[in-house]
Amino acid sequence: MTPMTPAPFPETRFRRMRSQPALRRLMRESILTADDLIWPIFVRDGDNVEEPIASMPGVSRLSVDRAVRAAEQAARLGIPAVCLFPYTAMEHRTQDCAMAWDPDNLSNRAIRAIKAAVPEVAVMTDIALDPYNIHGHDGFVVGDEIVNDATVEALVKMALAQAEAGADILGPSDMMDGRIGAIRKALEAAGHQNVTILSYAAKYASAFYGPFRDAVGASGALKGDKNSYQMDPGNSDEALRLVARDLAEGADMVMVKPGMPYLDICRRVKDSFGVPTFAYQVSGEYAMLQAAAQNGWLDGEKVMLESLLAFKRAGCDGILTYFAPQVARLLQAQGG
Ligand code: PBG
Repeated sequence: MTPMTPAPFPETRFRRMRSQPALRRLMRESILTADDLIWPIFVRDGDNVEEPIASMPGVSRLSVDRAVRAAEQAARLGIPAVCLFPYTAMEHRTQDCAMAWDPDNLSNRAIRAIKAAVPEVAVMTDIALDPYNIHGHDGFVVGDEIVNDATVEALVKMALAQAEAGADILGPSDMMDGRIGAIRKALEAAGHQNVTILSYAAKYASAFYGPFRDAVGASGALKGDKNSYQMDPGNSDEALRLVARDLAEGADMVMVKPGMPYLDICRRVKDSFGVPTFAYQVSGEYAMLQAAAQNGWLDGEKVMLESLLAFKRAGCDGILTYFAPQVARLLQAQGG
């Protein structure tokens, strides 16, 4: 929509509507609420363990019992969903990635425990082989290649195990071709009609994932880069084609990732498709803001709120963010 040409000064004074808080609130177009948040949580083995992640100040790997406490906290704070990422013990990372679809793997145990304790909190999962892969890649490695079709078969098994464990939202983050259709077909055949898919449709090959790879223990293992499957940061039209493809294959929601450097993509996706659109404010974005705040270079609370509001303004319906509990607490204190 092109804005109407404003009347000249002084008929139009833009500052009139900014002159007091009540008027600013009335004309505010985008707002951030706890309803917009998905909280990514790292899970690890053990009991009553909370292990801080150095490159993500304020974020820890949690044992399953602690992850359940976190989900209870999400419920109290009005956060609709948590998203689980497993830190898999090194002995469970193999060439064949078999732990990925084990019904009793860490992630599936955490899903069951959370759904048993706080059924009202939606549980989102990650579908990709990297936490189980000795090579740290999202797909099977054969020679120098990350193979597509064999990986999709494995991702389908992984998706079914997660749905069986009670996951509400499946998040394929692997960027293989054809995985959404294959997963959707398998879910329907297995009677999981209401399990939703939030496709990481436009996921870029980004250096902003660095701290996450530390968090899931994949940094050391990763040989080479993910450029043969994740998107080139120079592309924008391709994001629309990927979103169209994933929707046609049965995705319910789509994601743009990373977030802040790709807000133009969020806006294009929302305007082009009008579907539930999410962004992932990734580990590197979180780390940047936290580091600057810890140094006293930025006001941490203010940049947290402003960075998250930007996603709403760019057309996103929700945001995956490590700030979720902190920002929900702040919004609750502000009465929002
Ligand atoms: C891997 C995966 C990644 C993230 C989510 N799932 C990293 C990668 O693709 O290497 C990144 C999330 C973040 O940086 O916060 N399947």
